[in-house]
This record gives sequence, C-alpha cells and structure tokens, in this order.
Amino acid sequence: MTQPLAPNPLRRGLVEDRTSDACTVVIFGASGDLTRRKLLPALYNLAWQRLLPGGFAVVGVARRDKSDDVFREEMRSAVAAFSHRKPDDAVWSDFARGLTYVRGAASESSTYDALRAHLDRLAAERGTRHSTLIYLAVPPAEFGPIVEGLRAAGLVDPPGRERAGGPWTRVVFEKPFGHDLASARRLNDAVASAFDESQVFRIDHYLGKETVQNLLVFRFANSLFEPVWGRAHVDHVQITVAEDIGVESRGRFYEQTGVTRDIVENHLMQLLCLTAMEPPISLAADAVRDEKVKVLRSLRKMERSEVPRNVVRGQYARGLVRGEDVAAYREEPDVAGDSRVETYVAMRCFVDNWRWSGVPFYVRAGKRMARRVTEIAVVFHDLPHALFHAQDGGIAPNVLAVRVQPDEGIALRFTSKEPGQQTILRDVAMDFRYGATFGSNTPEAYERLLLDAMRGEATLFTRRDEVEEQWAYIDRVLEAWVADGMTPPPTYAAGSWGPEAADDLLARDGRRWRRP
Ligand code: BG6
Repeated sequence: MTQPLAPNPLRRGLVEDRTSDACTVVIFGASGDLTRRKLLPALYNLAWQRLLPGGFAVVGVARRDKSDDVFREEMRSAVAAFSHRKPDDAVWSDFARGLTYVRGAASESSTYDALRAHLDRLAAERGTRHSTLIYLAVPPAEFGPIVEGLRAAGLVDPPGRERAGGPWTRVVFEKPFGHDLASARRLNDAVASAFDESQVFRIDHYLGKETVQNLLVFRFANSLFEPVWGRAHVDHVQITVAEDIGVESRGRFYEQTGVTRDIVENHLMQLLCLTAMEPPISLAADAVRDEKVKVLRSLRKMERSEVPRNVVRGQYARGLVRGEDVAAYREEPDVAGDSRVETYVAMRCFVDNWRWSGVPFYVRAGKRMARRVTEIAVVFHDLPHALFHAQDGGIAPNVLAVRVQPDEGIALRFTSKEPGQQTILRDVAMDFRYGATFGSNTPEAYERLLLDAMRGEATLFTRRDEVEEQWAYIDRVLEAWVADGMTPPPTYAAGSWGPEAADDLLARDGRRWRRP
C-alpha cells in the first residue's frame, strides 16, 4: 500500500505565533480610501488568522457624524470588496464588536477629549489596557494638528511607561512624509515634540511586501551571491516600479506630487537601499536602518546642471492598456489641461562607496506603463573572453532578477547549449516562484506592517534620518526642474515603456532597459 505523502513543509503556511499585547488601533481618516482598501482588510485578515490580541479594539475617527453600526456596515462592505478573504460571519461578528467610531476633526480639541473618554471605556470594557496604536491615514497637512492634539490631550504615553510595564503609545504616519526636505524636517520636529523616535512608525508599504523582505534573506542568508554582489562582478542594476493603472481618482493628489514624490522618493529609494546596503550587524531595527542610511548618504549628489543628463521625466498620453483606449494624464479628472506633472521618471544613480563605485543604478517608475511589474535586476559583466562565437547564438550577460510583483520570485538567467549536434547557445532561466514553492499564503504588506507596529518592531519602517536623506537626494532633482522653468515633460503613449528619452539614458552608456 502506498503511504500518503507527507505534507510539503514549505506549503504548511505561516507559523502563526506572532501577536501583540492588548491594544486599540485608532485610525484617523476612517472615511478615507486607505482605511477601506488596505487597513480594515488587513486588520480583518489578522483577526481571521487569530493574530490579534485578546483585548483588542479599532476606533475610526473622521469628520462625518455616524453611528458605530453604520461604521461597522461600511467596513464590512470594504472588507467584502477589498480583502483577499471575504468576511466570514463568525469571525466578522467577533471582530466587529470591537469596531467603533468617534466623530471629530483634527483641529478641534473636543476630538481628543472624546477620544480619551472612548479609550478609557474600551480599556474598561475590552481590556485594551490603554495601549494605543494611532494610525494617521490622513493628508500630510493634518499630521501636525493631530500630533499636537494628541500631545495636548495627554494621549501620548512616554516610552518609559511601557518599559515599566505600563501601556504604550505608537503612531504610524502614512506617506507622503513631507513634500520636500524642508517640510519633512519641520514635520519630524513637530513629531519629536510629542513622541520619542522609538514610538514613530513611518510606513513605506513596499517594505511589508514578502519579496522585499526576502531580498535581505536572499542576500544575507546565502553564501553564493554576496561575493559577486558588487563592482567586481556587477555591470549595472535596473530597478523598475511600473504600473499599468493611471492616476485614477487621485488627479488632485498627483498634481501635487507627481511620480517622483509618490513612488521614487520612497518605494524606489527603499528598493535601492536594500539592494545596495552592506550586511547589517544584526536584524535590529537600527542596525538595518543604519546600513540603509549609509547607502542614501553615498548616493552621488547631482548638481543642477547634471540633472538633465541623468534624469528623464515623462507624462502619459492617450494609449492602449490591456486592449482598452485610455485617456491622457491631462484628460484625467482634477488634472490641469496643461499640466507639467511627471507620471514617469527614470534616473541614473551612483552609490559612491567601495562596493558600488562606478556601477550605475538605473531606476524608473511610471503610471500607465505596458504592464504592472516591480523588479530589481542585477546585470553581471560581459564575458572577459569570447570562447563561443556570435554564430553560435547570443551570449547575454547573466542577470539575477528579483520579481517583487506580480509572479513573485527570483530568476537567474544564464547561457545554455541548445540540445542537438551543433553548439547553439540560448539564454535560459532558473526560476524560483513563490506561488509554486510556498502556495499562496503570502500576507498582504499592511498585515505584516500593522502587526509589526503593534509589536513595536520598527525594522520595516523608515527612521527620521532615512526619510530626510531620501528627500535630500530627490530635492536636488525637483529643484533642478523648477530652476529649468518646469518645461513640459515628454509624453509617452499609455501602455508603452515610457518616453524615448529614457531609452537614450541607457543607450548613451551602451545599455538597454529590460522588458520585464
Ligand atoms: C502607493 C502610491 O504608495 O503605491 C500609488 O501612492 C501606487 O500611486 C501604489 O499605485 C502602488 O502600490 P502597489 O503595492 O500596488 O505596488
């Protein structure tokens, strides 16, 4: 009789042993898109996985007047629409009992009085122990008033109280954290007047993605790749964050940010840091963040005159995306008909340190590109000597491509012989796919990050100096564009891979963008 196969240990799913101690999650901006699309689905999924603590509550805060029941109904619809697990009656009703609403505006002190009374009640009724994770899912202009309101109302417990076994307060800031270096600094100063840095969690949801975390594991838990990870073996690195969607209903926001502030300053810079950083001395939050800050400080600062040669802007024109005609950026709702805002950026960066000296990092991000793909590709040097000849087939350089999304995985491209009597060469891939290897148990980025923040684990959040270094680098580019009179960016057809000027950026160095 054949024995039943033992379950594949790689597919047994997550080891469900992480939870936080009792607490309340307070969400400012409870009527907003982020709450519906990401935060509530993530919290519900944590509840479903039994990763929430025994004493737990969620309080939504927003301007509109509504009852707890109306708020619960809205959140149930949000979970039904946006969660990868649909609400299960038993789990939902248990979760929803802890879901309540407080009406209030950021600028009114009565909001914080009401919130304090509410948190006292929750501590008594649900055993939340006054520990509070405050999530600011609001526009950055409201960060300052909320921080001040919380401080003035005495809603911030100093970190010493937690160390003495008392309750804790932590605060999560959604991006964008500031609009430029000066505003990020002002904001950091305001935050520091109320919170200790150890209580501050600046979110970059790309750090919550499994594949992004795996970059650290891949680099530092394998001995094979680290020796070749640097100038001696790497010709260049390409990092792509391409989206096929346009700006959707966020025209007004995009007119203020453009893709540089929306994606490059944060997600793209973080991917670059994780790719380029040195091994940290430990996985402690500050050890990892110290190494990322060193990368940011090593980025070669561009003089204004160098920006045009190293940075390409673009804006999407009409085009065809997945077989559908789509509008130009300038035709999107709330976008100026003559807007000069960029929806695409490509940059040539250098990390001027021992490891990466002379190795270009080509990075690009864009909306309405040919497909949605985020990828980090490490392209290795050409062969030093051609033993095989051109007629034998192409010899392409080795490439290690980390696919952050979709089809999460890692592929190593190398040259192989085609079967047959002749020696014909072919570029092939060794392919590791998350889905095929581990099943589809990957948690959403926000699940991981919310739980980390509740547990006070800050490794996957951006530290003050990190966010300021990111802005310091990006500011030079933004200032150069303003100094040049913000000429209209070249357009690219929606559904393409960006403006021609971006191809020229690499062609000048004798290289080409990959088509991921
Ligand atoms: C957000 C940006 O931070 O990231 C959006 O504001 C973008 O413009 C989104 O669409 C992309 O995130 P993801 O997880 O879908 O790659």
